[in-house]
Amino acid sequence: MSKKYKIKDIKLAPFGRKKISISEKEMPGLMELRKKYAKTKPLKGLRITGSLHMTVETAILIETLKMLGGDVRWASCNIFSTQDEAAAAIAKTNTPVFAWKGETLEEYWQCTLAALHFGKNLGPQLIVDDGGDATLLIHKGYELEEYYNQHKKLPKITATVEEEIIIEKLLRKFHKKNPNYWHTIVPKIIGVSEETTTGVLRLEQMETKDKLLFAAFNVNDSATKSKFDNLYGCRESLADGIKRSTEIMLAGKTVVVCGYGDVGKGCAQSMKSYGCKVIITEIDPICALQASMEGFPVKKIEDTLSEGNIFVTATGNRDVITLKHMKKMNDQAIVCNIGHFDNEIEMDALNKSNAKKEEIKPQYDCYTFPNGKQIFVLSEGRLVNLGSATGHASFVMSTSFSNQVLAQIFLAKNRPEIGLYKMPKYLDEEVANLHLKHLNADLTKLTKKQADYIDVDINGPFKKDDYRY
Ligand SMILES: NC(=O)c1ccc[n+]([C@@H]2O[C@H](COP(=O)([O-])OP(=O)(O)OC[C@H]3O[C@@H](n4cnc5c(N)ncnc54)[C@H](O)[C@@H]3O)[C@@H](O)[C@H]2O)c1
Repeated sequence: MSKKYKIKDIKLAPFGRKKISISEKEMPGLMELRKKYAKTKPLKGLRITGSLHMTVETAILIETLKMLGGDVRWASCNIFSTQDEAAAAIAKTNTPVFAWKGETLEEYWQCTLAALHFGKNLGPQLIVDDGGDATLLIHKGYELEEYYNQHKKLPKITATVEEEIIIEKLLRKFHKKNPNYWHTIVPKIIGVSEETTTGVLRLEQMETKDKLLFAAFNVNDSATKSKFDNLYGCRESLADGIKRSTEIMLAGKTVVVCGYGDVGKGCAQSMKSYGCKVIITEIDPICALQASMEGFPVKKIEDTLSEGNIFVTATGNRDVITLKHMKKMNDQAIVCNIGHFDNEIEMDALNKSNAKKEEIKPQYDCYTFPNGKQIFVLSEGRLVNLGSATGHASFVMSTSFSNQVLAQIFLAKNRPEIGLYKMPKYLDEEVANLHLKHLNADLTKLTKKQADYIDVDINGPFKKDDYRY
């Protein structure tokens, strides 16, 4: 694990640096946090592993964490989401980074492991996770050692899913050379800050089962994350992903958006604004009612198949679009997913079916069924906005990543006990404040009388903790 970096091409570094310097100006939150904390360096000397899409915006997050004193190693959290020029620019600064666009699953997990291994028996003290893969690898490695130490042999691999088998094999190989690595590093881990809905769900499940090995910070549920990145981010980057791949005219098409949570709401608004007819599928009556009140028909997926031209999954759930559904879709239907994992679409079943797969270009595949009907799948069913485009624009990532930085500082400062934590409201409001000037927004100041009347402090927080925005 001694290699300094593993990327596509270090010669891309100057291009990456140009993009970084442009985007820095669009990330006022991160720039302000640099100014505020660069002197005191609250992350001084702390080893930080990141597992988060290695984009230009992430490069600016990495450099912020470094300026605050962190010793940073990074991997991407998706095989297609790395911007190679951003990875190169980061590698050029001697920051160990293991990420390139188009990794195999084996390479992906090797990269995650490399980011978690600072050499010898040194692991991270802090983790920035997106979707929970770094956290998962640590917990699985720890579990494997527990078994080995108890039984003096490794358990048989019982997993049946390809990716799970890859993880199990990697951990067994690593165990041969580093038999007590995870038990050595876990007690030194202060905590993880988790970026996304799906990762938070994993953490909640671990906490409920009493399996969590260290403190965790839920960044996703800060209002300035999920109500901005998930909603406004996807509102722009979904169309970017679909159009860069297919170059299709969106106006007039029927788009089926599965899931009407924060991400689904952004996707639906976006497609509507292009002149598409949008249909929603939902399992939650509240979200279904919200969709109806916005004028979107709500239907079961089965009843949309002959109508839809474009299908987008945004649920964080599995098997939302199945092979059976895809077989019944319109000819030349486009199928994509913007949720965190590719299991929203039954890709395994599609790949094993009698449909003939042909790559049109990377991350854009055509499947032809024996009856001649074709469907197009984007980014192999992985997050379309990051696989087929470059993810969200910098400004909205500044709100997300300001939360990440504050979460890392919180963990470093408070060293909380094992448990799941959220951003206090006043910091959430601070993140919003850091971005207002950039948009020329002029905030009204409460009078003392007004503050007393609505029962808030004159300087905030301005809402109760359970306010929904
Ligand atoms: N691509 C990105 O840039 C990006 C950004 C943020 C979040 N995400 C990911 O997107 C996914 C959704 O995030 P979110 O914040 O909107 O979550 P959310 O919980 O707010 O919304 C998901 C919605 O899907 C619905 N749903 C669940 N199962 C369903 C099914 N079988 N059919 C139809 N609807 C179903 C739920 O009721 C819910 O309303 C997560 O995996 C999250 O991690 C991706």
